[in-house]
Amino acid sequence: MTCIKYFEIMGEIIGSNISSMVREGRFNRTDICSKIQKYSSLMSNEWMSGKQPDIPYNDPLCRMAYLYSTVPVNANLVEYVFEHDHELESYLDDIQAKNGRVSICAFGAGPGTELLGLAKRIENRRLDDPITLNFVLLDQVNEWQESLIAIQRCIDSRFREKISINQRQWPLILSVHSSTIDITDMSNFGNLGNLFGQDIHILSYILSEVFDEVQKLRNNITKMAEYASDEARFLFIERNQPGWKKEIKDMATQANITLSEFHDTKAYMGLDEQRAHLGKLFEDVGRSPRANWDAFWVVGTKKQS
Ligand SMILES: C[S@@+](CC[C@H](N)C(=O)[O-])C[C@H]1O[C@@H](n2cnc3c(N)ncnc32)[C@H](O)[C@@H]1O
Repeated sequence: MTCIKYFEIMGEIIGSNISSMVREGRFNRTDICSKIQKYSSLMSNEWMSGKQPDIPYNDPLCRMAYLYSTVPVNANLVEYVFEHDHELESYLDDIQAKNGRVSICAFGAGPGTELLGLAKRIENRRLDDPITLNFVLLDQVNEWQESLIAIQRCIDSRFREKISINQRQWPLILSVHSSTIDITDMSNFGNLGNLFGQDIHILSYILSEVFDEVQKLRNNITKMAEYASDEARFLFIERNQPGWKKEIKDMATQANITLSEFHDTKAYMGLDEQRAHLGKLFEDVGRSPRANWDAFWVVGTKKQS
C-alpha cells in the first residue's frame, strides 16, 4: 500500500479549495461542482477537436476541473512509463548513484502531474535508499503554483504520518522550483543552459497543447538539446492521435536527438486507484474522471558528437 493515492490527494486538494471559495462567499458548492463538470467536458472536447485547444487554465474552476478529471490518469501514466521503460528507469538509478540526485525539468507541467506520478513510482519500488529529485516545473500559467504547493504538502504529510518524521527514511527527497514561462517564446532568457542542463526533460501532453506554435517549440527543443549533457534524456508522452509521432521525429532530427522505439500504451489506472477515493465530490460533480489512456511515449537521447 502506497501513501500516494492520486484520487485521494486530488479529493483533498479540491475539497480544501471548495471550502475556501465557499468561505470567502465567492461561489456555493453546487455551482462549483457544476462548473467542474462543465469544464471537464469542455477540456475533453477541446483535446479531441483536432485544433489548438482553447482552455481557460487561468480560471481557478477550470484548474480544479483539470485536477479532478485529468491529473490522476496522467500521473498514473507517468508512473507506468517509468515502471515499464527499464532503460529510462535504470538511467535514473545510475544518475542517482553517480551524482546523489536526479534533476528533472517538466515542460507545461501544470500542477506538477509528472512529479506526482514519479513520486508514486519511486514509493512503490521500496528501495533501500531514498532518491533525491530536483524538479523544475515550467508552465505559462502562474496560478498552477497553488496546486503544486498543495500536491507537495499532501505528499509530505502522508510520508510524515505513515512513514516517519525523519525525512531520511522517506522513499524520496524532493526539491522543487517552478517558473512561469511560455515555452514557445524563450527569447528573453540570457542563459538557457541554467534551465536546460537537466538529466531528464519531460514533455507530457504539451505538444498537443501548443498545436499552432509547435514549430517554435521545436526550435526551443533544439536549443534545449544543445545545452543538455550527452546522456540527458527527453521523454515525450502524448495522446495517440495522428501526427504527433511524425512531429516528434521531425523535432528529434532538427535537435540531433536519437529516439528510442515508440511505445504505444492503452491501459487503465492501477487497481489501487478508485474514483470513490474522491469521496462526496465524485457524487456532487456527477461526471467520472478519466481512468484510462490511449497514448504513447518515446525517449530521446542527444546524439554523441
Ligand atoms: C494538458 S496540460 C498537461 C499538464 C501536465 N504536463 C500533465 O501531463 O498533466 C497542458 C499544460 O501546458 C500548459 N501550456 C500550454 N501552452 C503553454 C506554453 N506555451 N508554455 C508553457 N506552458 C503551456 C498549460 O498551462 C497546461 O498546464
